Amino acid sequence: LPPQPDLDLASLVRTIPDFPKPGIQFRDITTLIGDAAGFSESVRRLAARAAAYRPDFIVAVEARGFLFGAAMATALGLGLVPVRKAGKLPGVTIGVDYELEYGTDRLELHEGAILPGHRVVLVDDLLATGGTILATAALMRSVGYKVAAALFVIDLPDLGGSQRLEAAGLACETLIA
Ligand code: PRP
Ligand code: ADE
Repeated sequence: LPPQPDLDLASLVRTIPDFPKPGIQFRDITTLIGDAAGFSESVRRLAARAAAYRPDFIVAVEARGFLFGAAMATALGLGLVPVRKAGKLPGVTIGVDYELEYGTDRLELHEGAILPGHRVVLVDDLLATGGTILATAALMRSVGYKVAAALFVIDLPDLGGSQRLEAAGLACETLIA
């Protein structure tokens, strides 16, 4: 699809109150990716921002991060490294526990997924507390990858994620705040 620089991506994201727990305003990206122009424009904007960091790989976080990360990687001609929830990757893994807006979880990475020293851009659909992406960045750095930046479709600024990322020295960009 041709670029649509004026397309308002925020209008395609749906908010569902009290999911998955009372008090959470859940930002639902299924309405964005179900819209052909919205999905392609989201990926185009993310890929353009990622390209500026000259990454060697795109790293995407399960599950919603995969949707955008996979499309970005093919658009940029780069490989994709998946960071998965515990127990999903078949090879030898390294992992990290972290806290979410609505619980705790564990993320894992295949050992040797990419060579140390490579530059990566991290991608996820949404930045809330920043717990997921900081855990992912720590995992990547612990095995010698250079984390150039973290990109998101949506920021929830009230949850302070971008401040936490800034304090941790992780560059961050979002398409919708
Ligand atoms: C959501 C979202 C981010 C994370 C953001 O994922 O896709 O990964 O939460 O929250 P944080 O900034 O507070 O860490 P979730 O764990 O719900 O998993 P899913 O993508 O598998 O639905
Ligand atoms: N992940 C963490 N908080 C979220 C929210 N409010 N909406 C969608 N995904 C989320």
